[in-house]
Amino acid sequence: MAVYSEKVMDHFSNPRNVGEIESPDGVGTVGNPVCGDLMSFYIKVEGDRSADVKFKTFGCGAAIAVSSMVSEMAIGKTLDEAMKITNKDVADELGGLPSQKMHCSNLGAEALHAAIENYRERQSEKPSQEHVACPLCDEEMKELCPSCTGCGADLAVCPECGEVVEKYAQACAYCHASLESAKG
Ligand code: FES
Repeated sequence: MAVYSEKVMDHFSNPRNVGEIESPDGVGTVGNPVCGDLMSFYIKVEGDRSADVKFKTFGCGAAIAVSSMVSEMAIGKTLDEAMKITNKDVADELGGLPSQKMHCSNLGAEALHAAIENYRERQSEKPSQEHVACPLCDEEMKELCPSCTGCGADLAVCPECGEVVEKYAQACAYCHASLESAKG
């Protein structure tokens, strides 16, 4: 009986998403205490999804297959979904790992989770972004909401100058462009 499943051999022979992401949004590196091997994950985040995931693994063939599978499982998922990927999920997706190699699967999901946590830490450390102010009541919001959190006015962005404007105004109060196209 083959020791490794076909999927493990495939991901080991043709690992997906190997390498580093330039200017990643999060990086996580985890070491395997059993064998001393290392795995680093890099993620690029768009919205609340992991738009790209890459890895570098200094480890055995099983660890490389695990990294490759984790990267495939995580790409396109929301960060919350990616945080729920477990080591067991990865081993299952690979069609199982021999028991003496199960410890190698521990690195994968942990390194991914560390990268997501690193992204979240970076976000919380960022100086508060420019605020958006309601043109009617000057209420400050962290980002443009469909309606002002202060006075409830419907808001839109002027397609000409990018300023926040009242959605149903005839024209932008800043550049006087017609707002017909911003009404949606
Ligand atoms: Fe080190 Fe597999 S033997 S990760």
